[in-house]
Amino acid sequence: MKIRHTLAKLAAWAGLATATSYPVIDSNLAISIATNPNISYVDISLSHYNKPVLYVGGSPFFYNGIQIRSDNLRQVWDMTPEEIGQTYQVAADAGFTVANTQLYWLDVQPDSAYAASESTYIQGGSSASANFAQSVNDEISYQSDNITAQSLTYLKFDFNNYTLDQIDAAKVRIYVPAVANNNQPFTANLYGISNNTWSAGTLTWNNAPNHNGINVTGSGDYWLASSSPSWDPILSVSYYDFDASDFIINHCPDKIASFILQPQVNLTSLVNGASVAGALSAKPPSLVLSSTASWDYSYVDTMLGWAEGADIKLELLWFGSDSSGTTMDTRVPYFVYRHILVEKVQTDGTVVPMMVKNHGAAYGVYWYLSDKNDLSLRALEKTALKNVMNHIAEYNHANGNKKTIVGIDVSNEGLVDEIQAGTGGGTIYENPVTWSARPLFSSEAAFVQRTMWEFQVNLANAVKESKYPVWTRSNINKGLSVQITYNELMRQNGGTSVDFGGLDPYINNATLLWQFGHNQVAIGGTNVNWAMGSNVPMIMENGGEYTNSEWLILATVAGGGYYNVYDFMDQESYNMWVPANRAAGNYTPVPAGSFVAGIISTNNLLKSLSSDLATKVPNGAGGTDLVFFNTLNDGNNLTNTLSSVPITYTPTTGGVGIGIVQSKEVIVLTTTRDAYFTLTGIASHASVQYANGHPYHYNITGQDIIIEILQNTIVHIRLKNSHHNGTV
Ligand SMILES: *[C@@H]1O[C@H](CO)[C@@H](O)[C@H](O)[C@H]1NC(C)=O
Ligand SMILES: *[C@@H]1O[C@H](CO)[C@@H](O)[C@H](O)[C@H]1NC(C)=O
Ligand SMILES: *[C@@H]1O[C@H](CO)[C@@H](O)[C@H](O)[C@H]1NC(C)=O
Ligand SMILES: *[C@@H]1O[C@H](CO)[C@@H](O)[C@H](O)[C@H]1NC(C)=O
Ligand SMILES: *[C@@H]1O[C@H](CO)[C@@H](O)[C@H](O)[C@H]1NC(C)=O
Ligand SMILES: *[C@@H]1O[C@H](CO)[C@@H](O)[C@H](O)[C@H]1NC(C)=O
Ligand SMILES: *[C@@H]1O[C@H](CO)[C@@H](O)[C@H](O)[C@H]1NC(C)=O
Ligand SMILES: *[C@@H]1O[C@H](CO)[C@@H](O)[C@H](O)[C@H]1NC(C)=O
Ligand SMILES: *[C@@H]1O[C@H](CO)[C@@H](O)[C@H](O)[C@H]1NC(C)=O
Repeated sequence: MKIRHTLAKLAAWAGLATATSYPVIDSNLAISIATNPNISYVDISLSHYNKPVLYVGGSPFFYNGIQIRSDNLRQVWDMTPEEIGQTYQVAADAGFTVANTQLYWLDVQPDSAYAASESTYIQGGSSASANFAQSVNDEISYQSDNITAQSLTYLKFDFNNYTLDQIDAAKVRIYVPAVANNNQPFTANLYGISNNTWSAGTLTWNNAPNHNGINVTGSGDYWLASSSPSWDPILSVSYYDFDASDFIINHCPDKIASFILQPQVNLTSLVNGASVAGALSAKPPSLVLSSTASWDYSYVDTMLGWAEGADIKLELLWFGSDSSGTTMDTRVPYFVYRHILVEKVQTDGTVVPMMVKNHGAAYGVYWYLSDKNDLSLRALEKTALKNVMNHIAEYNHANGNKKTIVGIDVSNEGLVDEIQAGTGGGTIYENPVTWSARPLFSSEAAFVQRTMWEFQVNLANAVKESKYPVWTRSNINKGLSVQITYNELMRQNGGTSVDFGGLDPYINNATLLWQFGHNQVAIGGTNVNWAMGSNVPMIMENGGEYTNSEWLILATVAGGGYYNVYDFMDQESYNMWVPANRAAGNYTPVPAGSFVAGIISTNNLLKSLSSDLATKVPNGAGGTDLVFFNTLNDGNNLTNTLSSVPITYTPTTGGVGIGIVQSKEVIVLTTTRDAYFTLTGIASHASVQYANGHPYHYNITGQDIIIEILQNTIVHIRLKNSHHNGTV
């Protein structure tokens, strides 16, 4: 087939042309093949159809999707479940065949957060007998030559009702409403103390346990839980996290935890005026407990309910240890932070932070980079996704076997990259611990490529091994399209469990999107053919705000690809719908512009042609039985030949025509806008009917048939015997 490429070419693209065997990082990683009945899969055999075909529930499936940011609708806009469910209904009514939405690792393995039950601070000198329990904010200050400007904050948390036996990680998150008066950064120390009998209401400098002046010491046990890392000193109004895993796991048998927060102390330091939001504040300190034994599928069920209520298929976008190239604290359980690459010590001793901070409500406080070659992290994440899939199998069984979830995106724009403060990205960090296989690879790029592939295969294996096997896809970072080349190469050399990879181009150039499905495209700087090998070329995100989206969808399908809109509605600027009146709390979705009407109309037309669109190769990709007229809605490509019949399309006011050879006797014609079709030379061998068989009015000029077809009407041209070989 024209669009499929040879192995040698794939190998050359992957830079591995001379390799005879391929180095690996995890030698135990095998490729899993579903043994439970496939809910969905990609038929790449080409034995039924001349292209890879998506199957759902045993039937070919036409993919035309839209992403719904249920996460942001829920967390940023506080929309109710009913309001979010409505977005699925509108997407379904708009003719999309699939909705896709985020499932965070944190959604299914939630942490538990406990607000401080009490807090206060103590201050020396003339305040030594004063109690500050009624203060909303608690001070942490230190001025070496003025003891009245020295203070410590005491925190207490009661997690007595925590039911899990196992805690794998814990942290204390504080909010700093005021930094040091001199605006200089300072670090802080979090000490755990065994004394839980102190009470905020009576605590003073004179009677507080475990301190001697500003120093934490004393008769009862105390442990330094953690200090501000050098890359995250207190310097701006923000949240700050302090790890408390060891203290909580090993030193809190009563499930009550007391802490002292101490400002950086040295003979010259000056920390005046800094404070921490206290237990009485709106942003109290919180103790976050994280357990690998924590499971909660209620949100998965909620999402299934949204999709089933709207009768639309659903794909889950797994937002795990990497989503969009980062490990976000709003998306992963805290125990994952035991597997992150936080900082790198350079040869000259300087420490480079590998995190960025403060992205707001939707994106959390800290972004890190977890280590994709940390095999214990891979195992934890695989377990999480596999348990989700097994839960979905149970849900599906108990709720009418609707097979609502049809696919899993195992990776969203993943990266192996340094995250550096201020830049959000950088060079590759060669971790000396987990990069031990690095010398086996000819280059860092080859190692990174393998890292990304193994990371994705590990997750795809979870899906395939589960009781609910569906197609697995990867939304490949624009700059890393070589990953798709590598996946195809591996498919030929031992297999892959990642069924296909796609791209987020964010372009509104219909020509490029048309080319995407069958040809090399220069999008994002890397030139590959996304239809190589057995890959299903899919535009996985493209801006919903593009007013020519209707033509972009048609161009993509005409070129051999599938299209997915980003996104339905949220706080970003890519929406196809907007809330009717957000200020007034009315979240009823209304189209973002008049262009949406055309999309709804065209989507529903495409949906009615699903089985042909799912199985036939369009003319853009070299097919002959599915053709598009005026493909890019630019007045070109008005003529095609179907079943040897030359057909000319004459749009009235723009529009794209579609012709399908449904059988030897039947040509199907339709159009997204009112148009005329001229069928040359067949007036005596053909008749024209509605899809239901009723006669359709048409004119004859000489031997030509001229048909006016109104928008979205489907017309059948029935070819009589003499056109072909005399049989009917
Ligand atoms: C599921 O589909 C895959 C192709 O994607 C196939 O190799 C496998 O045998 C199927 N599994 C079952 C149980 O039918
Ligand atoms: C010492 O600190 C206290 C509290 O900030 C302040 O009121 C006082 O003026 C300071 N004394 C001197 C001598 O700076
Ligand atoms: C446990 O206690 C906290 C308060 O410390 C409360 O917010 C939370 O709802 C309780 N959880 C359960 C399951 O009772
Ligand atoms: C704990 O702190 C309280 C308040 O300062 C004190 O009265 C008590 O003696 C302390 N307990 C121990 C065991 O040090
Ligand atoms: C606190 O510790 C520092 C450093 O060890 C020391 O210089 C200082 O004298 C101590 N302060 C008190 C009140 O013990
Ligand atoms: C003491 O604190 C100052 C900031 O107040 C800091 O610049 C300096 O590095 C600190 N010295 C030590 C030894 O920690
Ligand atoms: C769209 O892409 C095509 C193919 O690369 C290019 O020739 C054309 O100039 C582009 N159109 C616009 C408006 O950028
Ligand atoms: C339009 O027709 C020209 C000439 O045959 C061809 O080169 C081009 O690929 C076609 N474009 C589309 C979008 O079908
Ligand atoms: C067919 O002919 C009639 C009468 O001349 C005309 O009104 C109509 O527009 C024609 N339809 C087409 C499809 O050409």
